[in-house]
Amino acid sequence: MRDPLIDSSVTLGVTGSIACYKAADLASRLVRAGAKLDVIMTEGALRFLNPITFAAITHRPVVTSLFDPQSELAMDHVALARRSDVIIVAPASADALAKAAWGFAGDALSATLLAAEAPVIFAPAMDANMYDNAATQENVSRLVSRGVVIAGPEEGRLASGLIGRGRMLEPAALVDHVRIALSRHGDLAGRKVVVSAGGTQEPMDPVRVVTNRSSGKMGFAVARAARDRGASVVVVSAPTALPAPTGIDVLRVETALEMMDAVNAQCEDADVLVMAAAVADWRPSGAADRKLKKGTARSLTVEMMRNPDIVASVRKDIVKVGFAAETEDVIENAHGKLVDKELDLVAANDVTSADVGFGSDTNRVVLMDRDGGVMELGLLDKYEVGHHILDKVARML
Ligand SMILES: Cc1cc2nc3c(=O)[nH]c(=O)nc-3n(C[C@H](O)[C@H](O)[C@H](O)COP(=O)(O)O)c2cc1C
Repeated sequence: MRDPLIDSSVTLGVTGSIACYKAADLASRLVRAGAKLDVIMTEGALRFLNPITFAAITHRPVVTSLFDPQSELAMDHVALARRSDVIIVAPASADALAKAAWGFAGDALSATLLAAEAPVIFAPAMDANMYDNAATQENVSRLVSRGVVIAGPEEGRLASGLIGRGRMLEPAALVDHVRIALSRHGDLAGRKVVVSAGGTQEPMDPVRVVTNRSSGKMGFAVARAARDRGASVVVVSAPTALPAPTGIDVLRVETALEMMDAVNAQCEDADVLVMAAAVADWRPSGAADRKLKKGTARSLTVEMMRNPDIVASVRKDIVKVGFAAETEDVIENAHGKLVDKELDLVAANDVTSADVGFGSDTNRVVLMDRDGGVMELGLLDKYEVGHHILDKVARML
């Protein structure tokens, strides 16, 4: 299973908001990710953008009216409602929210929404007072109570120049909302997956840490892949520059000991643990409470003590996947790790090659399972590697 957007049928409703220009970017991202995209523009949206923009992006006719004799809807006015795997309205005006909340069907978008059985996502975009108005809030609550997803809006600078809650979510986040809606029947639906990511930091004193080169990218990619197969996902992350992906809870920790506590707490009700973090094997014994002064010393000796093994501390009855970052004898060392740590699967990689491992967006791993199965994956995007791992995990569950 891969990106759920591939070959999906998505309908994008565009309404009359200044955020319309971002809808073109959203459409482009959905199409590039593999969705078959239909666009419906409201009267309001037509004041802001020309339908040619969306026709050129989607390579399909754009619906601009319920009563256009040239449109597919003239022959079958609920065609898009039936065809869609998901419908996203972005930007969603106050007017569009009100119409949907009260079941109006006087325009192509409203009629499609009323007839749809597919999941529906609204991405509101409006002036903060319009959004906070009791009428809009009641409409939002009404839609939420019917299972509609309201994605955003965010706080931020609005077209009016004011700062407030009313900014449409960025297109990349909305694409992820569509993925989440599409993955609700995925092979990990109803499962909880815990992923550790990043390199732990072990303090020497209040300003210095001992750490490693892990960027967290591999763990975050596995987490996105699990989310896109319907799992509820928690990432326990050591410090990294990566933002929390849409729909994934990220718990930030620093040290191996903090990671151990957080992973164990999260695994209490989890089905799967993927340890993609580079956990420090050693930590300075007894961090100084004040900054170590260099004085006139020519050298410094730091005594290190062993960190506990996180995987070994976790419940035995869940599927456990480990990563082995090796610089030599990759297969032998990884097999040793599989056995010693009682893992169900190990993903081994040689971190000395430039195109793989730490910091890179790609990885080349060998998957080894308990039954002696060895699968060598070529150079792949880390998200793809995540899916290969989860293909095996899904079979083990
Ligand atoms: C310049 C301009 C910007 C607007 N921006 C928004 C907006 O961001 N959100 C909104 O709900 N309405 C906005 N409106 C008002 C809507 O366009 C208006 O309510 C329209 O009837 C919406 O129709 P529709 O929902 O059918 O597209 C704006 C109007 C103008 C003239």
